[in-house]
Amino acid sequence: MNQEKFIFKNNEGISYTSFWEAPSNIALIKYWGKKGNQIPSNPSISFLLSKCFTRTKINFSPINSKKDPWFTFKLDGKIKLDFYKKIETFLENILPYVPSLKMHNLMIDSSNSFPHSSGIASSASSMAAIALCITDWERQINSEMTEETFKIKTSFLARLGSGSASRSIYGPIASWGKTSHLKESSDRYAIPFKQKIDKIFDGFCNTIIIIDEAKKEISSTEGHRLMNDHPFAKKRFYQANQNFFEIKNSLATGDIEKFIQIVESEALTLHALMMTSSPPYKLFKPETIEIIELIKNYRENSKTPLCFTLDAGPNIHFLYPKAFRKDVLDFIDNEIIKIFPSIKFIHDQVGNGPKKI
Ligand code: DP6
Repeated sequence: MNQEKFIFKNNEGISYTSFWEAPSNIALIKYWGKKGNQIPSNPSISFLLSKCFTRTKINFSPINSKKDPWFTFKLDGKIKLDFYKKIETFLENILPYVPSLKMHNLMIDSSNSFPHSSGIASSASSMAAIALCITDWERQINSEMTEETFKIKTSFLARLGSGSASRSIYGPIASWGKTSHLKESSDRYAIPFKQKIDKIFDGFCNTIIIIDEAKKEISSTEGHRLMNDHPFAKKRFYQANQNFFEIKNSLATGDIEKFIQIVESEALTLHALMMTSSPPYKLFKPETIEIIELIKNYRENSKTPLCFTLDAGPNIHFLYPKAFRKDVLDFIDNEIIKIFPSIKFIHDQVGNGPKKI
C-alpha cells in the first residue's frame, strides 16, 4: 500500500463518537530497536490478548474557537495531564495522514481492564484504541474504505503512537516489520499472521505474574534508543529474523519444544541487550530469576509445555496450551504462591481482535 492510500477524503466538520476496545499483545519475537519515524530494526510477532484491554471513547467535534483545546484526555473519568505529552506527540505525528484532525476537538475517555500500576505496558492497547476511533471516524464519510483498508490504516496510525500498538489490531497472531520470511510483511503496519497455525495454539493461555507494580525504570522508547549504538545490534537484528523463521515453522507444525526454546531465548536476549547497553539496565528482580528456575524444573519434571516470556520489566508471562491450564494453575498454587504469597496474577488467553462497542 503506498503512502497516498493512507489519506482519505477530508472529513472536516464531521461530529462523531467512536468507542473501541483494543487488547494488549505479548511479543514472542521482540521488537527492540527502531530507526526514523517508528521503523522497527527487526520483525516481531505477537499473540493478541483478550482480557487485558483498553476501552476508549472519542467524541470528535469541530473546533469553534481558537481557544478550544485540541483534545482532553481522561483515564477512568479523571483528567490525566501526565499523558498529554504522549498523546499530543501522537496526534501531531499522524496529522499528515488525517489532516482534518486539526480542525476538531477530541474528547478522549479511556479505561484499562488491568490496573494501571500492574506493570503491564498499556501503550499498545491505548494507542491502538485511539487509532481505531480515529480511523472509524474517518470512514464515516469514506464509505469506500474496506475492512482490510480500515485495519491497515489503523495499524499504520497506531504504529506512529507506539510500535507494539500496530500489532494490537490483529488476533490471534500479528507480525510487524519487513522480513524475507513473510512476503506481505511491512515496516509501516502490522499484518495478521495468515500462515498455518497448529491447533495446539488455539486459545493459548497467558498468565501474567506481577512481580513489581512500580513504573518501569526506563521507558521502552528510551530502551529502543539504546540499540542505536549497541555493540551487538547487527547480530541481534539478524538473529531476530532467524528466530522469526523458526517460530513461523513451529507455529505451523505445532513443534512446541522449538516454540519454547525460541520464546524463552527472545525474552532472555531482550534483557541481555539491556544489560549490555550503555548505560546498562537490569530490569529483572530476584523473584523473576527464581520463578524462571521454577518453570524450568517444573517443565523438566512434569513434561508440561509451560514457558515464559518477559517484557522490558520484571513481570513474567507464562505461556501454555489450554489443555494444560489446570496443571499450570496447580503449579502456580503449589509452587509459586507458596514461596511468593503476595504475588498477583492475571489469567488471560489469546484473543481474536479489537471490538467496536
Ligand atoms: C519489549 O512499542 O512500547 O515490549 O514504539 O517506543 O512505544 P515504542 O515502544 P514499545 O516497545 C515494546 C517493546 C517490547 C517488545 C515488543 O512488544 O515487541
